[in-house]
Amino acid sequence: MARFETQVGIVGAGPAGLMLSHLLHLRGIHSIVLEARSRSYCEERVRAGVLEHTSVQMLHEAGVSARLDREGMRHEGIELGLNGVRHRIPFLELTGKHATVYGQQEVVKDLIAQRLTDCGDLRFECGEVSLEEIDSTKPRILVDHDGQRDEIFCDYIAGCDGFHGICRDAIPEGVLSIYERSYPFAWLGILAEAAPSQKELLYMHHPRGFALYSMRSPMITRLYLQCKPDEDIREWSDDRIWTELHTRLKCEDGWRPTEGRILQKSVTGMRSFVAEPLQHGRLFLAGDSAHIVPPTGAKGMNLAFADVFFLAKALDANYHTGDLRRLQSYTATCLKRIWRAQRFSCWMTALLHRFENERPFDYKRQLAEMEYVVTSKAAATSLAENYVGFPLDGW
Ligand code: FAD
Ligand code: PHB
Repeated sequence: MARFETQVGIVGAGPAGLMLSHLLHLRGIHSIVLEARSRSYCEERVRAGVLEHTSVQMLHEAGVSARLDREGMRHEGIELGLNGVRHRIPFLELTGKHATVYGQQEVVKDLIAQRLTDCGDLRFECGEVSLEEIDSTKPRILVDHDGQRDEIFCDYIAGCDGFHGICRDAIPEGVLSIYERSYPFAWLGILAEAAPSQKELLYMHHPRGFALYSMRSPMITRLYLQCKPDEDIREWSDDRIWTELHTRLKCEDGWRPTEGRILQKSVTGMRSFVAEPLQHGRLFLAGDSAHIVPPTGAKGMNLAFADVFFLAKALDANYHTGDLRRLQSYTATCLKRIWRAQRFSCWMTALLHRFENERPFDYKRQLAEMEYVVTSKAAATSLAENYVGFPLDGW
């Protein structure tokens, strides 16, 4: 067994783990990142696409925004579609802020490249990982790597290993309270080789179910359809997908999505989930390992960044001034933002999707809510300020 030492052992090289490792490096704190998958798998995994303005600011201040500044697509608003009519929610006008479209896998590529430039210790393709003595002052990570079992002694462990990781389960039974909700639908998502035929995202309410028109670059569009939770992707030929997208997204003004070769298709389930507290002993959970939001509000990756921003600040205070208060209040600080994002994501989801067995009363109420959001400046401002994200300072 080989023995290693680090200040912070990080499990998971998604947005949370990589950003945490980088923020710690900037503060002179050593970390080792352990990732189950290969580097190329992490860099190619298509997931989130929208960055809040605070996430962009964080990437900027952390010196990892060169490509984001060049290639990120500034979005000063979104469109909400109702009865085939598009209504714009002008973020910049309502909040002075904007969102940015830049693929999660691009953020991951940039962070991996930066950590490697800075000689960071990133270990891909790890085998079984387990946590030992997280209640003690010297917790350990045991990991199979390069054909041997490694033992990594840490001051702290960060569980950034996503919803299906092992860190949350390492917390003894009875400590965590779980709050969750599942939805009776999923999203069928495609990536298409087609230049976006409009500048902004379109969230479309439709009697056949929600559809979303998004993008990744000047050559690639990203589209989603509400579908059954157990939808079999094999039953969705390219033709069937485009027909359904045209049906749901077509607008009275003649706008239609442009078709292109489908590069990737997948079905993603929807869930709301929070595990409280985010800390036990010397283990701190961050990102999807502690919480999941349905993607309608585009909050998941942004919440992951917010968690590690607070965690890096708290560890910095602990190492450099001996002040433990920020670490002790990590859970409380994060939960405020997490629950605000949960509220917004649930609200956006309820606003836009068709629900199984919904009562006619609820459908009519949903239409009235859509009507209200697209006609009231107060309601649109509420959507806008939540979508672009709240400042991190003071949380
Ligand atoms: P992950 O990205 O899941 O990273 C966890 C890492 O840990 C992975 O690399 C995994 O391989 C690794 N791991 C797991 N188990 C182990 C183990 N035992 N040992 C070692 N490593 C392990 N969010 C937004 O903000 N905006 C959006 O527009 C948006 N759209 C989305 C659309 C879809 C279709 C989906 C699925 C998600 C979307 N999200 C969005 C959510 C966003 O992708 C996640 O919230 C984000 O990936 C969370 O980052 P993370 O680092 O916490 O977790
Ligand atoms: C995406 O482009 O993948 C995307 C955009 C907005 C969302 C969710 C996903 O709300």
